[in-house]
Amino acid sequence: MKTSSSTPHDRGRPETIRQMFDEIAPTYDRLNRVLSFGLDRRWRHKAVELLSGKVGGSFLDIAAGSGDVALDLGALRPRSIVASDFAFNMLSVFRKKLGTAHREGVALVSCDAHSLPFRDASFDGTIVAFGIRNFADRLRSLQEMLRVLKPDGISVILELTQPTLPVAAQLYRAYSRWGIPAIGKFISKNSSAYSYLPSSISKFPDEREFLSLMTQAGFTSPNATPLTFGAATIYSGRKR
Ligand SMILES: C[S@@+](CC[C@H](N)C(=O)[O-])C[C@H]1O[C@@H](n2cnc3c(N)ncnc32)[C@H](O)[C@@H]1O
Repeated sequence: MKTSSSTPHDRGRPETIRQMFDEIAPTYDRLNRVLSFGLDRRWRHKAVELLSGKVGGSFLDIAAGSGDVALDLGALRPRSIVASDFAFNMLSVFRKKLGTAHREGVALVSCDAHSLPFRDASFDGTIVAFGIRNFADRLRSLQEMLRVLKPDGISVILELTQPTLPVAAQLYRAYSRWGIPAIGKFISKNSSAYSYLPSSISKFPDEREFLSLMTQAGFTSPNATPLTFGAATIYSGRKR
């Protein structure tokens, strides 16, 4: 049986976050589908749609993991896609999915979102899906996204959030307290990773705070779109 050597209390440390994702990589896609009732796919499509004004452009998928967003970006007939992540096993799952047929124009880069190894103004669009919640310094990661964007480029951030509508919030609380850890443990055999998930969602800033963080990072007119009663939110912002 696979076990995790760290506890949920250690989870703020980048090294343990990376280790956790390396451990859950083999079951990550299956668990995503099950835990989100298949909604994760729809949420990613919607997030990628916000980049549709940049058809034919160059895109950076940050914290790309097993690559589902990078695959969706293919619909924008991109000139290039860079899928970056610091967990090697997550990127390996993506490499297998890509096979040999679709590799052209897609680069996989192992790096930390807080210090992107790309030149200023390299991309027409950047996107991070379900990743920023795990970053130790969100402001710094937003500043990095902005730095690598070309002028008028767009950054899109999709993240799991807490519903605000009272009934939805109550159902969500019960599901995140009992459902997510139990299902997560059953499928991944990693109990701490799926206790960490609801706790990291509950610690994520609310809409007003996150929009203000985007403004602080330098994005112009940041915007939020709640999805499925607020169980996920898409944030977007432009570079002047
Ligand atoms: C929940 S997964 C999301 C994967 C993918 N974007 C998706 O839509 O399914 C979070 C990913 O963020 C990556 N990650 C977390 N912190 C990171 C950091 N500081 N730098 C780079 N990647 C990071 C993890 O390795 C993991 O692959």
